[in-house]
Amino acid sequence: MAIFVTGAAGYVGSHFVKCFERETSGKLVLIDDLSRGSRRNVPKDLPFYQVDAGDTRSLAQIFAAEPPEAVLHFAASINVGESVRDPLRYYRNNLVTTINLVNTARLYGLKHFIFSSTAAVYGATGLTKVKECDPTLPDSPYGQSKLMAENVLADAARTYGFKALALRYFNVAGADTTGVIGPRSADASHLIQVACEVAVGEREKISVFGNDYNTRDGTGVRDYIHVDDLARAHLGALELLETMDKPFDIFNVGYGKGYSVLDVIHAFEHISGHTLPYQIVDRRPGDLPEIIADNRKITEVFGWVPRHNDIFEIVKTALNWERKRRKKDITIR
Ligand SMILES: NC(=O)c1ccc[n+]([C@@H]2O[C@H](COP(=O)([O-])OP(=O)(O)OC[C@H]3O[C@@H](n4cnc5c(N)ncnc54)[C@H](O)[C@@H]3O)[C@@H](O)[C@H]2O)c1
Repeated sequence: MAIFVTGAAGYVGSHFVKCFERETSGKLVLIDDLSRGSRRNVPKDLPFYQVDAGDTRSLAQIFAAEPPEAVLHFAASINVGESVRDPLRYYRNNLVTTINLVNTARLYGLKHFIFSSTAAVYGATGLTKVKECDPTLPDSPYGQSKLMAENVLADAARTYGFKALALRYFNVAGADTTGVIGPRSADASHLIQVACEVAVGEREKISVFGNDYNTRDGTGVRDYIHVDDLARAHLGALELLETMDKPFDIFNVGYGKGYSVLDVIHAFEHISGHTLPYQIVDRRPGDLPEIIADNRKITEVFGWVPRHNDIFEIVKTALNWERKRRKKDITIR
C-alpha cells in the first residue's frame, strides 16, 4: 500500500513531499497533470504519474498496482478571480475531480483521505476570527467548490468506511528554507508572491485593493502561514487518522494572527532594504476586510506547533526563493 499525493508538482504538494521525506518514512506515489505545477518540483526517485486526478480509468490502473492506504489531495484550480469568470471549470476540477478520485480510491481499499480545503469556505459571515463550526458562506465558485467537496467527502467517509480530514488552509506563503522549491505562477494573485515579483523587478508595483476597510490601517488583514508549517500539519493529520474515532473532521490551519497588506509591504521593505512601490486601487469584489484562523482545534488535537510563525521569516524565504528562481532562469507558467 502507498500514500498517494495529487498535485505533487504544485506549491503546497511539493513542500509536503519534501517534508514527508525529511521527517518520516513510507512509500509515496505522486500524481499531477502538470497543468500548473512543474516537473522540477517532483523528486526523480519517486514514482510519478502525469495524469488527471479525476481520470478514473488511469486511477484504477494505478490503484490496482498499488492500493491507496492514504490519499492527500492537493490538486485543484486555485484562483478565486478565475473561478468567478469560469465557474464550471472550478466545479469540474475541484468537485468532480474529487468525487472521481474518492470513488476510485475507495474501490481499491482507501483507508485515509486528506483534502486541501481553504479559508475561502467561510466567506462573508461578518466574523473575523473563524472556528471550524462557524457558518460557511463562500462568495466565490472556488470557495463553494471546496465546501461542496468537503460535504461530499464527509458523506462518502461515513458511508464507505474510510476516514477523511479537510484542512482549511489560510494564506499559504513562503518557501522551503533551503530555497530548492517555491511557488511559481505566471498570474500570481497572492500578495506575498506579487510582492516578491515587485521586489525582484518582475512587476512594476503592488495593487492594494482598498484602504478604507474597518481594519487598523484600512487595508485587508489575513492570516499568513508558512508553507513548511502547513506541510508538517499534514504529517499530524496522517497520524491522527490512525486513531480517529469518527469518519470525518475539519481543521483550520493558520497561525491565528493577522497582518494587513501594509504590514506585509513593510516587512518586504525591511527584509529587502528597498522601498516597494504600491498603489491603492478599488476594493476587489468579494474580498473580506479581515479573516484569521481560530487554530485552537489543530493545536490541541494534533499538538501542532508552528516553527516559522514570523512574517519576516515568511517574507525572507519567499524572497530567497524568488531570487534563486530568477538566477536559475526558472520560467513561471
Ligand atoms: N496556496 C494557497 O494559499 C492555498 C490556500 C488555501 C487552499 N489551498 C489549496 O491547496 C491546494 C494546493 O494549492 P497550491 O497553492 O499548491 O496550488 P498549485 O497550483 O501550485 O498546485 C496545484 C497542483 O495541482 C495540479 N493539478 C490541478 N488540477 C489537476 C488535476 N485535475 N489532476 C492532476 N493534477 C492537477 C497542478 O498541475 C498543480 O501542480 C489546492 O487544493 C488549493 O485549493 C491553497
